[in-house]
Amino acid sequence: MRDNGPMPTTAPSSTSTLKIGPHPVQPPVVLAPMAGITNAPFRTLCREFSGGKGLFVSEMITTRALVERNEKTMQLIHFDATEKPRSIQLYGVDPATVGKAVRMIAEEDLADHIDLNFGCPVPKVTRKGGGSALPYKRPLLRAILREAVSGAGDLPVTMKMRKGIDDDHITYLDAGRIAVEEGVTAIALHGRTAAQHYGGTADWDAIARLKEHVPEIPVLGNGDIWCAEDALRMVRETGCDGVVVGRGCLGRPWLFADLVAAFEGRTAFARPTLREVADVMVRHAGLLGEWIGDESRGVIDFRKHVAWYLKGFAVGSEMRKRLAITSSLEELRSGLDELDLDQAWPAGADGPRGRTSGNNRVVLPDGWLKDPYDCAGVSEDAELDTSGG
Ligand SMILES: Cc1cc2nc3c(=O)[nH]c(=O)nc-3n(C[C@H](O)[C@H](O)[C@H](O)COP(=O)(O)O)c2cc1C
Repeated sequence: MRDNGPMPTTAPSSTSTLKIGPHPVQPPVVLAPMAGITNAPFRTLCREFSGGKGLFVSEMITTRALVERNEKTMQLIHFDATEKPRSIQLYGVDPATVGKAVRMIAEEDLADHIDLNFGCPVPKVTRKGGGSALPYKRPLLRAILREAVSGAGDLPVTMKMRKGIDDDHITYLDAGRIAVEEGVTAIALHGRTAAQHYGGTADWDAIARLKEHVPEIPVLGNGDIWCAEDALRMVRETGCDGVVVGRGCLGRPWLFADLVAAFEGRTAFARPTLREVADVMVRHAGLLGEWIGDESRGVIDFRKHVAWYLKGFAVGSEMRKRLAITSSLEELRSGLDELDLDQAWPAGADGPRGRTSGNNRVVLPDGWLKDPYDCAGVSEDAELDTSGG
């Protein structure tokens, strides 16, 4: 298990550049796909802070909604003109639909890289055999990967998964081998089981084991990177080829500046004052409004980010509540202007943020665990009909 002691900030000594297909990712830092979060505006902010370095994956797009050209889905797959490479994450349970979605992306030039999501632990998905329940059915996983890789043509296809369903039903090593056999370009492993949801500690040893198990392709480590030093430590301790960072950048897109600095051997990390944070908040809300095409809806969508941005700052609970129900940029800005904006970056704000609970029982279809090779009864309903959920 990983050591929780103090750590040096030395950059990894490895000089090999992570490549996702033809795309170099240098330094090897990836924004984790997060439904409802990693849309074009948030990716823009993260990219600005990283100086354009790294890889920024879209929120999850369901394949059925994509092939049906669902209106919301078509908006979610929007990339800013400057995004290169354009990374899209797909979620699907039916090999034929996944194949169609991937072909559509390739033929219509909708993205440059496709990531497949096999990590979702949400009960309404696993109950039907989807998400993190799916890799347990080895032949189905193989069929999906085969369709995706063959439909993608020259586009690289990667997969993201968890360790397994629970400690008694670990799937990541088999899934990794299947991925290599089917021509997947790289694998990201979130070091938790579905049963853990977001609780406990990510198992970085599993990332190291996967790296040994699939030496043919890059392995990206994911789970519990809260600050740039954590990212360096994950690479050092697991030998992974890159890191995928999710909750650590909620309300903190400048973490990408820190990550780039750390991998480049610099230690000057961003410690914004509340004034600087407030400016980013207003910009984030404004970008959401432009993206949605309606300022008020943008600010309303931004509400979920408010607590993350303000984490650790001395802001009274009444003011926090007020800021989380604003409906216009002016209201947001004037509320923020009432705060003591000279506050320094708070000690402790580099720690965990976002969801941290877990240890739920995984809800599965009847008899799911009886036979990993029997794929009868996998329901296409496991795929939600809208994206980003
Ligand atoms: C709000 C939220 C939404 C998420 N949505 C997705 C998703 O759409 N696709 C996916 O593969 N993982 C999703 N995840 C999981 C993250 O990509 C990541 O694997 C997980 O948060 C662990 O990484 P972290 O410890 O850096 O947060 C989501 C996580 C959160 C907190």
